[in-house]
Amino acid sequence: MSQPNTFDIVILGAGSGGYAAALRAAELGLTVALIDKAELGGTCLHRGCIPTKALLHAAELADQTRESEQFGVKADLVGIDMAGVNSYKDGVVGRLYKGLQGLLKQDKITIVQGAGKLVAQDTVEVDGQRYTGRNVILATGSYSRSLPGLEVDGKRVLTSEHALKLDRVPSSAIVLGGGVIGVEFASVWKSFGADVTILEALPRLVAAEDADISKQVERAFRKRKINFKVGKPFEKVEHTENGVRATIQGGETVEAEILLVAVGRGPTTQDLGYEQQGVRLDRGFVLTNERLHTGVGNIYAVGDIVPGLQLAHRGFAQGIFVAEEIAGLNPAVIDEAGIPRVTYSDPEVASVGLTEEKAKEKYGADKVTTYNYNLGGNGKSQILKTQGFVKLIRTVDGPVVGVHMVGARMGELVSEAQLIYNWEAFPEEVAQLVHAHPTQSEALGEAHLALAGKPLHAHS
Ligand code: NAI
Repeated sequence: MSQPNTFDIVILGAGSGGYAAALRAAELGLTVALIDKAELGGTCLHRGCIPTKALLHAAELADQTRESEQFGVKADLVGIDMAGVNSYKDGVVGRLYKGLQGLLKQDKITIVQGAGKLVAQDTVEVDGQRYTGRNVILATGSYSRSLPGLEVDGKRVLTSEHALKLDRVPSSAIVLGGGVIGVEFASVWKSFGADVTILEALPRLVAAEDADISKQVERAFRKRKINFKVGKPFEKVEHTENGVRATIQGGETVEAEILLVAVGRGPTTQDLGYEQQGVRLDRGFVLTNERLHTGVGNIYAVGDIVPGLQLAHRGFAQGIFVAEEIAGLNPAVIDEAGIPRVTYSDPEVASVGLTEEKAKEKYGADKVTTYNYNLGGNGKSQILKTQGFVKLIRTVDGPVVGVHMVGARMGELVSEAQLIYNWEAFPEEVAQLVHAHPTQSEALGEAHLALAGKPLHAHS
């Protein structure tokens, strides 16, 4: 039996990585203390994935109302009631939060509310109280990064956390950073009626995605009249009478009511005792081996503090992995490229596996074949009046090594795409599967038919 305050696992941080580890460990019969200074559920549930996707859904409804005439439905968009939008968003978060609290309670996980610090390789201290674990999992997540000279005041210069709590639709907004957070908020605010400009230092929006995907997002954003300036880093921001003025390299300026800083998220690893206990950090990220062990005592790390994709579902997977590792189940190592990625802007972007550039680097340019299936040939996409494509990447005579999709609702197709990638399926095998008609999933089927040399509604 465990002594009071001695557990099989002490977990610092109750976000996606930490709570997933706690739930799986409890299921496996291990005793767990789960420590957090804020609400259980972390960034994703309270300040990230869930509330932003609620905003994006409200944004989609606004656009559908505005465009309803195209479908023969007469409706006028009278306006956006931000109090109503926020209450819907907070309601979703609240229900999920309650559900999570219930699950953790049911599993008899010891919840500790307070700021924890690693004071020994097996001990976390919270308000003078010590919690000792035969194993410790670090899961302290990430924070919104800023840039030198950029003062975030929460009023004119905001992080995504402030942006989620806005009680009004800004008349205009500058979005600094054209990555995932940047394009999602730009998409929401444009749909709500704001004038939006994205400033991105790299040569393209959503630069981590395949280059063809960036082109299509940029084309769609131009059509939606979302302004963007790429290829020039931001230099400074000044306050004006009613807002802010941002200057980019070369001296060009943009003015707006507010500026959102979306230049990436940094790992929350400072002043938590990690380095003092011998845990190695690289630019703030916790270094681990592929089994997520830090190399120090029985300390593991999961989620956004571990270098790689900062995604909630990666955190879930890593949390489950470490719980099983500690329980001696010898789980299979997680393949980062097999983790699906979705950006919920309009248009939506979904991908898994390697981009064309990465696949050519890995296998050689002449060993890679690609195929783009245009959604123009997909019945359901035509019904939805969406544009985009499904792009497949395969090695010559080998399996599919990358799937990249852009268009309305493409996020839902990523589940099939990730099975294809993770099962190392050959296009010829996927081409055997029958897809329901009319669905957008047929676009995936058609792309594989074409790659297998037997296109139906397309040319090979
Ligand atoms: P990000 O890394 O996706 O994008 C940041 C962008 O800011 C980059 O394109 C970068 O080039 C640009 N940037 C950096 N310095 C700049 C400068 N001086 N001037 C102009 N541009 C500059 O990071 P983001 O969007 O902040 O998101 C943080 C994390 O949260 C990401 O890892 C993302 O995956 C995750 N997230 C995931 C979501 C999803 O899965 N749908 C939604 C929101 C966030």
